[in-house]
Amino acid sequence: MDYDRYDRIRAVQWQGDHLRLLDQRLLPREERWIDCADANQITQAIRDLAVRGAPAIGIAAAWGVALAAKQGEPLDEVLATLRAARPTAVNLMWALDRMKRRIVAGADADALVREAQAIQDEDLAANRKMGELGAALIRAHSGVLTHCNTGSLATAGFGTALGVIRAGVAMGRVDHVYAGETRPWQQGARLTMWELVRDGIPAQLIADSAAAHLMKSCAVQWVIVGADRIAANGDTANKIGTYQLAITAKYHGVKFMVVAPSSTVDMATGTGEEIEIELRDPAELLSTGGQRTVVEGAQAWNPVFDVTPAELIDAIVTERGVIERPNSIAMQAMFGW
Ligand code: MRU
Repeated sequence: MDYDRYDRIRAVQWQGDHLRLLDQRLLPREERWIDCADANQITQAIRDLAVRGAPAIGIAAAWGVALAAKQGEPLDEVLATLRAARPTAVNLMWALDRMKRRIVAGADADALVREAQAIQDEDLAANRKMGELGAALIRAHSGVLTHCNTGSLATAGFGTALGVIRAGVAMGRVDHVYAGETRPWQQGARLTMWELVRDGIPAQLIADSAAAHLMKSCAVQWVIVGADRIAANGDTANKIGTYQLAITAKYHGVKFMVVAPSSTVDMATGTGEEIEIELRDPAELLSTGGQRTVVEGAQAWNPVFDVTPAELIDAIVTERGVIERPNSIAMQAMFGW
C-alpha cells in the first residue's frame, strides 16, 4: 500500500502547547488552520464542526484534556464541557473516559499528552488495518458509493470507509467512486471530493437524491460508510441519509459495508433506539453557503444522524476483524467484556 500517495492529510496536529486544526468549515475554498490555545476553544471547534468526524472529535477532545492539564485547569469541568460538545459520536465519550481513567490513576500532564498521542496513533493504525480488511471484501473492478466524509479529515489519517476505498483503489478492487453530496453540510461534496481529487482517485459527485437511480444502473456493487456509534446489536448511527442508502441498497442487491474503529462500538447501548440523534440549528438547512435559499418564515427540522438497523448491513469492518451480517451474538463475541 502506497501510504505516501494515499495518506498525506493530517487535520489534527498537536504543537506542544496548543492544538492546530484544519478548519473544515472553509474547505475546499480555503485551507485555513485554527490554533486552539485552550480546551474551551477545542470544545467550540467540535461544536461548530471546525473539526468533525467521530474519530477526529475524540482525538481533539483527548488533546483538550492534555492541554488543560498542562495549564492547570480543573479537569473534571473540562471533561464535562468537552463531553457535552456533541451527543451522537461515541468516540468523544470513549476518548474522554480513557483520559479520565489515566487522571484517576494519577497521570500528570506529560502522561496525558502521551495518552492523547496514543489515541491518535492507534486510530491511524486501526484505519490502515481496516483498509486491508474492508478492501479484501470487494471484487476487482467494482464501483462504490460513499456518504459524508470518512477520510483523513475525519480521523487521525487515511480514513475509515474512505480508507477502505483508498486501499481498494490501490489494490485494483475499486475502479470508480461515487460520493453523495451529504446535505445540508455537504461533507461529501466539500470534503470527500477534496480528498479524492487530491489522491487522483476516479470519482464523481452525485446529488443525495440520485442514489437509487445510480444503484439501479448497476454502477456500484458496495455502499461503504463510516459510523458515529455502533450499538451492541450492530445497529449503526451515521450521517443523516445513511439509513435510506441502506434500504435502497437492499432493494437493488447492492452490498452495504460499515467501517469504524472499535472506539465507535458502544456495547453499553443495546440497540439503535437508545442512540441520541443530534439535532442541529434549522438555519443549516435554510441557507446554502451562507446565502438564504428558503423563504423567510419557513421552518426546518435538522436531525444530522440516523440509525441503520443491523439487518440492512452486510459487513461491519473494525480493526479487530470483520463481522458479516452483524447481530448481538457476533458483536458480543468480538467486543464483549
Ligand atoms: O457531523 P459530522 O460531519 O461529524 O458527521 C460525520 C459522520 O457522520 C461520519 O460518517 C462518521 O463520523 C464517520 S467518520 C470516520
